[in-house]
Amino acid sequence: MAHQWRGVVEEYRQWLPVGAATPVVTLREGGTPLLSSQWLSRSVGADVWLKVEGDNPTGSFKDRGMTVAMSVAVEQGARACVCASTGNTSASMTAYAARAGLRPVVLVPHGKIAAGKMAQAVVHGATVVQVRGGFDDCLVIARQLADRYPVVLFNSVNPMRIEGQQTAAFEVVDALGDAPDVHVLPVGNAGNITAYWRGYAAYADAGMTTRLPRMWGFQAAGAAPLVTGVVVSAPDTVATAIRVGNPASWASAILARDASHGRIDAVSDAQILQAQHDLATREGVFVEPASASGVAGLLLAARQGEVPEEARVVVTLTGHGLKDTATALAGSGSVVDSVIDADVHAAADAAGLV
Ligand code: F0G
Repeated sequence: MAHQWRGVVEEYRQWLPVGAATPVVTLREGGTPLLSSQWLSRSVGADVWLKVEGDNPTGSFKDRGMTVAMSVAVEQGARACVCASTGNTSASMTAYAARAGLRPVVLVPHGKIAAGKMAQAVVHGATVVQVRGGFDDCLVIARQLADRYPVVLFNSVNPMRIEGQQTAAFEVVDALGDAPDVHVLPVGNAGNITAYWRGYAAYADAGMTTRLPRMWGFQAAGAAPLVTGVVVSAPDTVATAIRVGNPASWASAILARDASHGRIDAVSDAQILQAQHDLATREGVFVEPASASGVAGLLLAARQGEVPEEARVVVTLTGHGLKDTATALAGSGSVVDSVIDADVHAAADAAGLV
């Protein structure tokens, strides 16, 4: 017990807007693995590390912001919470709401969120409202509900979410001893790229790092408004988590890109699914499709000759593969290779061992 990770509020309290009286609502999120990737290091000619955010309590990076936002909301007397979501924000908010005793309401695009994420909101006791529309429509409604009714908004437009999500950057620096040269991550509503950049900047200001990383964000090609510069009215991608056409943190994402001399580019669904497959079969890390887009983007940049030689690169893997098994298994035909009677010879034969 003495050495249990305490969750991001206690581990990084001095960096966060919480006071001594703030009741900390935590599932001991954060403290996620930073894995060296031999495969990617070889493939791109750099020193590549994977920040495995699927290992958070509800299976995505959202928990980092949720612990701060929920703690502050409870301190301020909130009774109910609302969010729009492609599935992970809602999974996280409902878990923290359950722990805090708040009533959770979630708005999700009808038929467009992965089954595992829907299950999370349901089992944590949320009222789940499916909206005929996309994430962007859901966010407009969530904002209006929070304006007109006694319910607190938990999307990343709630600044406490961004505050908490900075802790991932802190952990990277604490693990590596300095900021990486390049930080790669998927971009949807653009809260996370905003949060990492602020986190690195805060640590740099305090003299905790000697440099700032370039921020490399990747969107899915069918939902890439930050790449094209125009709102996408009907975003479409297999990576449902980042199916966002009008990111709330648009301006701060562009700021992170430009101030860091970074880039925000698009990757195709095929590249995303290939990266998901390769991560699972080469590294033993099962991520959801959206989470593979950073890896797909890094490989794309390498093919374009844009990965600086020997650079230290960190790629955030944002969410767990178990949230969306349907997409992961689609195209793999039968889930099992063969069905046999309970017999060792038949097993050896089926396994190709004879
Ligand atoms: N990866 C995953 C697995 C996500 O769920 C999200 C966002 C992102 C990446 C992109 O992060 O929005 O900060 O740029 N999911 C939101 C949600 C939209 O509702 O769960 P972002």
